[in-house]
Amino acid sequence: MEKIILTGDRPTGKLHLGHYVGSLKRRVQLQNTGDFDKIFIMIADAQALTDNFDNPEKIRQNIIEVALDYLSVGIDPAKSNIFLQSEIQELTELTFYYMNLVTVSRLQRNPTVKSEIQLRNFEASIPAGFLCYPVSQTSDITAFKATTVPVGEDQLPMIEQAREIVRKFNSTYGDGSDILVEPDALIPQNSICSRLPGTDGKAKMSKSLGNCIYLSDSEKDVKTKVMSMYTDPNHIQISDPGQVEGNAVFTYLDAFATDDDFPEFCPDYKNLDEMKEHYAKGGLGDVKCKKLLLNVINKELAPIRAKRAKFEKDIPGVVDILKAGTAAAHEQASATLAEVKRAMKINYFEDQALIDTWAKKYND
Ligand code: TRP
Repeated sequence: MEKIILTGDRPTGKLHLGHYVGSLKRRVQLQNTGDFDKIFIMIADAQALTDNFDNPEKIRQNIIEVALDYLSVGIDPAKSNIFLQSEIQELTELTFYYMNLVTVSRLQRNPTVKSEIQLRNFEASIPAGFLCYPVSQTSDITAFKATTVPVGEDQLPMIEQAREIVRKFNSTYGDGSDILVEPDALIPQNSICSRLPGTDGKAKMSKSLGNCIYLSDSEKDVKTKVMSMYTDPNHIQISDPGQVEGNAVFTYLDAFATDDDFPEFCPDYKNLDEMKEHYAKGGLGDVKCKKLLLNVINKELAPIRAKRAKFEKDIPGVVDILKAGTAAAHEQASATLAEVKRAMKINYFEDQALIDTWAKKYND
């Protein structure tokens, strides 16, 4: 069986460090292993509209931001097809048929959807499109026969939903063979990367909380954000013992710093463990830790910024990349839709035997 990756992001804002450690970095690594036959990276604009239907302009503006973020972290259009979800009409058609294979109560039990409903105060009036977005996400995945879906941990319920629909589809319409492929999620190996906190120490980096460091932030922006990061509120004097756990600066260092960074940026310590030990004992100030973090983040972001600057100068070229990726995606999705319709026996005009039966019924 071919190994195929499908994944994507809603274009509701620029991508940030949480996206980077949670998924983007891994995608680039997977892309560069050469282990995959096909890779599709989707800008999920249609899904973004399920909770931004009244603000299409926001989505319009962020499509190019997400495309630039993808290209600047190293998604390579020669290896990965970057495409726009709304351009692939087949996805909508698949969703309509898949909706018959899932119950409303099952959708209401989806933990990610549940918490998003709360977050958006949708309780009293959930748009049907929003409730059904896990079904649409199943179409995104299955249209490409994806075997592997690299995502953040919060997307696990979506993959589970997709697997259920695939099984139901295959058992209902497969006639003994598997038409659709059950995907596997690929989540970050370490829990810090699964859920990078915001610069304010809150559980999640999120645009609405204003606690993000964006991949497109300038060195100056990053400096301001890192220097005002949440640490241990009880660590007032340098000599005070400090708390490492729950201290966002150390959480970020866990996610980004390697032993090699210490001789370069902070030669007083051999590694992060030594630094943490000193902080916990007392005698190490926040500013020193933040300076290390700033260096480490900038080291990671410098090549990304440089690449972004190049692509920003050629937006029509970026649009051409999206068009080419979309054409490739369209070809694959339309082949799958044809197979699905054949399996469901709703390919009437293709089916001469059926037409003959119709005719026979009245003309024998
Ligand atoms: N739900 C994903 C997010 O919010 C975006 C997405 C849409 C997606 N369709 C997908 C991710 C298919 C993986 C596979 O980020």
